[in-house]
Amino acid sequence: MDPSRYRQLQVTWKGEIDEASQHAVSELNRRFDPDEFTVVLNGRKLDLWVRAVDLRALASAVSEVRKQYPTALPMAKIVDEVESVGSYGIRGRKRVFVDYNRERKVVGRRTKEARRGKHFYAKDHPFERANHPFPKEYEDRIVCGDSEDVLRALPDNCVDLVFTSPPYNFGLAYQEDQDADAFDWESYFAKLFAVFDECIRVLKFGGRIVVNVQPLFSDYIPSHHVISRYFMDKRLIWKGEILWEKHNYNCKYTAWGSWKSPSSPYLKYTWEFLEVFCKGDLRKSGQSANADIDAESFKQWVVAKWSIAPERRMKEFGHPAMFPEELARRVMLLFSFRGDLVLDPFAGVGTTCVAARRHGRSFLGIDIAEEYCTTAKRRVADVQMEFLR
Ligand SMILES: C[S@@+](CC[C@H](N)C(=O)[O-])C[C@H]1O[C@@H](n2cnc3c(N)ncnc32)[C@H](O)[C@@H]1O
Repeated sequence: MDPSRYRQLQVTWKGEIDEASQHAVSELNRRFDPDEFTVVLNGRKLDLWVRAVDLRALASAVSEVRKQYPTALPMAKIVDEVESVGSYGIRGRKRVFVDYNRERKVVGRRTKEARRGKHFYAKDHPFERANHPFPKEYEDRIVCGDSEDVLRALPDNCVDLVFTSPPYNFGLAYQEDQDADAFDWESYFAKLFAVFDECIRVLKFGGRIVVNVQPLFSDYIPSHHVISRYFMDKRLIWKGEILWEKHNYNCKYTAWGSWKSPSSPYLKYTWEFLEVFCKGDLRKSGQSANADIDAESFKQWVVAKWSIAPERRMKEFGHPAMFPEELARRVMLLFSFRGDLVLDPFAGVGTTCVAARRHGRSFLGIDIAEEYCTTAKRRVADVQMEFLR
């Protein structure tokens, strides 16, 4: 086989390769075009020669072969291995692992890009390039207060990354005021954008702001679009959008809509969005020695659909709308360098700050509710204790 025509993968089997396992491999091969997918027994290893494969067909073939040869060594690892490859093209139902880039190349891409203009909406931005040191007295602190006021005390261009999830305004009973999360939408966005104005000001040139926002169901406000539009109007560059798949199915099919009728089907979401914006430049400065994301995570996370379970300890921490630490960890490792300063202006019980502390970033977390700030401080101190143990 010509290695240049295939993506080569490998799976190691524990145990002896008996006759049943050999038959199982032959049977699996029989079901695929050898020009596209072949498994070769190589001692206790399986060499996979993969050009193009329909993953669902592969999974069902593996399970059928398994039924046929129940004593054969398990082959599910083959599917996992193929699935773990992050770079591929799509042709019909198949993932194409070789030459897909060449097939997609646009002739004269750079000239065409130059003619069209990249991120045209962010041209003529007003941002200064000079960055400033972050004030020591605010470093690694949880501050209780209104972010709009607290942030005014910081100089321009001193924060590397803002990561936050704003209050949602659909009536969550937050601590400071049981009715506060249900303003009229104009007031809500006016206040939110006043805080974001400050975030943009304190963000360094080349810094990133990542906002976790969910599609708003009950009031039909596409808040992720409204928020993105705001950042574009402020001339930030949209780096992209991450779909956070939470898999939290909620089966109230008719609660807000029709049942089995096109009259008013109600759309449901098991995911939220992370909108990623950059100030002035898509590239962020930082020393490569301080990039602490490993190759495997990088490969997986740049595929912008992240499956992460929602936070399950909200009762324990006494907050109704936390995001999980894993979400903050990924944002931090993918979008900031070790040693960077991370700001969360709606810090809640301090999940962003906890992740920052754990991963060698400095932080400033601000929340308006005293009780959340107390919990946040305790959580950050607990991480500190873990380090000392
Ligand atoms: C969605 S929650 C953030 C939860 C956080 N991500 C966590 O994991 O704990 C939004 C937070 O914004 C806070 N908040 C609302 N208005 C604020 C303001 N003007 N300044 C600071 N915090 C505010 C609320 O108290 C609430 O804790």
